This record gives sequence, structure tokens and C-alpha cells, in this order.
Amino acid sequence: MLNIRYFNKSQSDTYQALDTPCLCVDKQTFLKNLMHLRTRTEALGASLRPHFKTVRAAEALKYLLPDSSSPITVSTLKEAEALISEGYTNVIYAVGISAAKLKRIKNLQHKGQTIRVLADTPEQANQVNLFCEEHRCSVPVLLEIDCDGHRGGIRPDDPLLIDIAQLLHTGAADFKGVLTHAGESYHCLNPDALREAAANEVKVALDAAARLRAANIPCEIVSVGSTPTAHHYENLDGITEVRAGVYSFFDLVMKGIGICELNQIAATVATTVIGHNHEKGWLFVDAGWMALSGDRGTAQQPHDCGYGLVADETGQLLEGLQVSSVNQEHGILTMVNDRQLKPDDFPIGSRLHILPNHACATAAMHSKYHVFDTQAETYEVWNRIQGW
Ligand SMILES: Cc1ncc(COP(=O)(O)O)c(C=O)c1O
Repeated sequence: MLNIRYFNKSQSDTYQALDTPCLCVDKQTFLKNLMHLRTRTEALGASLRPHFKTVRAAEALKYLLPDSSSPITVSTLKEAEALISEGYTNVIYAVGISAAKLKRIKNLQHKGQTIRVLADTPEQANQVNLFCEEHRCSVPVLLEIDCDGHRGGIRPDDPLLIDIAQLLHTGAADFKGVLTHAGESYHCLNPDALREAAANEVKVALDAAARLRAANIPCEIVSVGSTPTAHHYENLDGITEVRAGVYSFFDLVMKGIGICELNQIAATVATTVIGHNHEKGWLFVDAGWMALSGDRGTAQQPHDCGYGLVADETGQLLEGLQVSSVNQEHGILTMVNDRQLKPDDFPIGSRLHILPNHACATAAMHSKYHVFDTQAETYEVWNRIQGW
């Protein structure tokens, strides 16, 4: 039972007038997701630094952050520029820095804001130092630490850890601390593995910070985070902040890992039935990969959801029905259990909702979101910040 209300009676006309495909946000569910992780993190003594990459809409900032000095993470400078122009002052750009981006970073610092960048090579450290010298400015830098072999970063026991931090600390840049992201936690499939990934992420970040401090390099920020680990920390002593992004909308990948239930998925794609193939038992909808993304994140999980699961417009999950394949503007829905699809149960023109595999990818396909608060009976349009 999904039991989500995408709209209530008073919002029915607005909802019915939407053109599909479009992204609908259930605001109460979104707010509950935000509140849950903030409360959990702060109870453990750390700050929450939400990752803006999932929602990327200025209209959502007042819900994501308590105030304009609250910490936030971005994955593009476009997001950072939008945040700074909205008056938000405490930003980490959490993708390895390239020299070509430093001018834009400087322009943002110029306005009295803080935007910190990430490095994990001596080359990057030298480039930031050189830029700061040439432009008589200071750019705060974090060192990316590899906690699980998922992507970039340096291991806490690598001699480069001290070398790079020393370059930044003694150079014109401003060395600020360490950051790690437990990307491998997406492959954990039980609570013990998740708790282990969370404890490992914390331990690796603390080990790196301890080595730096032992070498007389101050390490003000110790930043950890991914949505799966953020929901499984048991002790955050010594950690200054936790980052997470997809927790705000949640999705089928997170459901597959066991981080959320289906009724915590706040963003769905509303779509219209546009055709039937009786012979093949197919149903066509107007949401293809342009609306859903091509993400197949559940393919490696025990329950492969195709390109998404399906609910009707009353929020009822249609058991066994899923988006089996996508073309650019067509989604093909089939039954994946033993039941027969009866296309006539889904008349042409009827509306369905697709629950996304990966909320960050699906939301990125939409320039605006239709946000329904079924409790306050409000409807808002949020505009997504596009591009890099
Ligand atoms: C550096 C960094 N921090 C935090 C996150 C947020 O993690 P999640 O997507 O699991 O919420 C990401 C996600 O890719 C990331 O790259």
C-alpha cells in the first residue's frame, strides 16, 4: 500500500489541468524527509549540510535550511551562484576543483560569501595557491578523502594526505579540513552493512583529521555523508557536519537499500496513458526517458523496478506494473508478475504517477516542479536551476 495523496479535493482542478509529463512533489512528504534527517543528525551533535543537487530549486531553500548562514553543498557552480544571489553564505562545491572554475569562485567570494572547494591532488593544490597569489585572494579548500574506493580522494594513510594539506596550509589558499563521501554505501543491502559503511566513513574522516592535526595542520571541518550512511550513524563525535541530498525526495534505489519506504518518495512523474497494445499487453504513457531519465539504478538490486514503479492518481501502487522500457517520449508499461495487464483498466487519457529510480536524475529532466501541500492546501511551482 503506497497511500500517498498527490493532491486533495480543493487542488483537484489545478492537478487535472497539469500538462503531462511533469514532476509532482508531495510537499508534506518532502518536509517530513527533511525534518527526520535534520533531527537525527543534530541529535548526534553534527550540523546537516544538505546537498542541493537533488532539489536545485531556490523556492525549496527555506525548507532545506534554517537560515541563510546554514551550511549547504552544491555540485555545480550554477547552484552556488544561485545560492549566493539568494543570500546564502555557507557553501561547499563538492566536486574536485579545476583551474578554469576559480575565476567564478573568486567572483562569488568577492560578495562576502564563503564558497569552499575540493581537491585531492598536488596539482590542484598548486593551481589554487597560484590563483590566490595572482589574484590576491583566498580560496578555502577541503581535502577529499577516499573512505571506500568508490571514486576519488586520498586514503587517510597515504603520504599525499599531509603533502597536499601542507601545500594548501602554507600556500596562499586557505586549508579548511577533510571531506569524504561513502558512495559504496549504495551497494549495501542490509542494516548491518549500512551501519558498517557509516562507521567506516566516520572512522576514515577522523583518522585523516587526526593525522593532519598531528602534523600541526589545523583541520576545522570534518565532513561526511551520503543518504544511506547519514541514516545509519550511531556516533558522530569529532564530525562537524553530515551531507546528504537524495533524502529530500527519496527514490526506488533508496527503497531498495532499505533507507525509505515507498510512501516516503516525495517526487513522482505524472504521466498520461496514450496508447494500448492489447496483443503484447503493453500500455503506453507520455513519459519516456526525457521525463524519467534513463537511470537503471535498481537493476543491480534484488528488486529491479525497470524505469520506475507505477501508482494511480489516488496514490495507490499498482502492484506488478512497471515501466519496462523507455523511448525518448514514450514509456512502455507491462506487468512483471503473473497477472495479466488489462489495458482497458487504464483508459486512454487516464493519469498515472511513476516513482523514480533515482530522484536526482529524474528531477534533472524537469525545468519546474508542481508542489502540492495536501495539508495546507497550497500549490506552488518551483523552478529548477539548470546547467553548470
Ligand atoms: C560529495 C558528495 N557529498 C554528498 C552527496 C550526497 O549523497 P546522496 O546522493 O547519497 O544523498 C554526494 C552525492 O553524490 C556527493 O557526491
